[in-house]
Amino acid sequence: MVNHTNELGPLNTMGAEFQKNRYAELKKYQEISPVHPEAVQALGGRPFTQWTVTRYADVLTVLKDARFVKEIRKIISQDQQVPVPPPLEDLVKTQRNQMLFRDPPDHTRLRRLVNQAFTPKIVQRLKPTIQRISTRLLDEMEGKSEIDIVKDYAYPLPVIVIADLLGVPREDHSIFKEWSDGFIKTIDIAPTMEDLVTGNRVTIEFRDYFRQIVQQRAETPQDDLISGLIQAKDTAGKLSEDELLDMCILLLVAGHETTVNLIANSMLLLLLHKNQQVLLRENPELLDLAIEEVLRFEPPVQATSRFVSEDMVFQGREFKKGDSVTVWLSAANRDPSQFGDPEMFDITRKENPHLAFGLGNHFCLGAPLAREEGTTAIQSFLEKFSHIELVSEDIQWKPSPLMRSLKSLPVQVRR
Ligand code: HEM
Repeated sequence: MVNHTNELGPLNTMGAEFQKNRYAELKKYQEISPVHPEAVQALGGRPFTQWTVTRYADVLTVLKDARFVKEIRKIISQDQQVPVPPPLEDLVKTQRNQMLFRDPPDHTRLRRLVNQAFTPKIVQRLKPTIQRISTRLLDEMEGKSEIDIVKDYAYPLPVIVIADLLGVPREDHSIFKEWSDGFIKTIDIAPTMEDLVTGNRVTIEFRDYFRQIVQQRAETPQDDLISGLIQAKDTAGKLSEDELLDMCILLLVAGHETTVNLIANSMLLLLLHKNQQVLLRENPELLDLAIEEVLRFEPPVQATSRFVSEDMVFQGREFKKGDSVTVWLSAANRDPSQFGDPEMFDITRKENPHLAFGLGNHFCLGAPLAREEGTTAIQSFLEKFSHIELVSEDIQWKPSPLMRSLKSLPVQVRR
């Protein structure tokens, strides 16, 4: 057994160091203790080890190996299970219905129902719609010299696209924002009890909202995803009523929160690396590679987690059944053993097998859509404005360790 000296304490994702420079902090772990243990206690008392995994090869293994699972309640014994506290019952119930938190065979069943709507071929058909929305948002900036890229562009674009796809009114997007933010916080690295209670409340509101829409679509089906899912529920019996509502919540949240970051982070990186912006303007055919490089360099989703389903030795460490493993996609994406010059933002990088969309059976369902939205958004923005300047060099990120989200991105623009 390898005996690692434990020079590092637990990774404190809300601490000053991580908040100031998360990549330098993660690098320390990657170099000194790439599979790092922390003894923790679950709500209700079950002790287990929380592992932090930061090297590319190890992250890849965890994501692909079926012994790392999502559903903890299926692997721990009855006496270790604690009842869900009543203030969190709705939230937990909803998450247990969503593919992101399920293992096969339920994961496979749920994912199959929506897979068809997100294939690259189907997404290609959405291209003109995405372009139209993008053009309209840019037209609304006419006459302004200062805009906030997050609020005015990166946020509304993916929300409108996913709302259209599902078949919910675009105008409701200001309500989704609060619900969506509240829901995402519950799956962050270390949510507080307050976050979880808020998440429970927004889940109830989200469900009530979708219940109404589902009722309307059941009476008058349209050419949208919700109508398709209702059919899967009614005719094929492949989906329960609750699973249908919770699928809508997952798609709406996953469908915009992340892509907002892709668009905003792309613009930020092109503003901070002016030479790369010039290169892209002069060589628009580099756009696809540029988006992949943004996904590697500032991945919108920084980490994900799994549970250990059986005792095993992993990189010399003893993993016990019921332990939890957090894999840092963002650290893997800057692992020098996988990427040459990983700290360099290089839009011409050709070999770029980044893990921003995860890997294995939970590989991001929306990856083709996100890529399409990202490329259209960036291309249109650069075409519209020949001069874009940051209003301030003081870049403000949200404190979330899970998401790489800008609070805002004020810029001065000129045509
Ligand atoms: C740049 C934007 C996006 C990023 C970086 C991203 C990232 C990810 C990652 C890392 C996972 C895997 C999580 C895990 O393994 O535990 C995932 C799963 C998922 N993503 Fe995305 N995502 C993005 C956009 C989207 C969009 C536009 C949708 C549209 C609906 C979407 C829907 C989903 C769903 C449903 C899952 C769960 C898949 C499953 O469990 O099988 N994502 N995403």
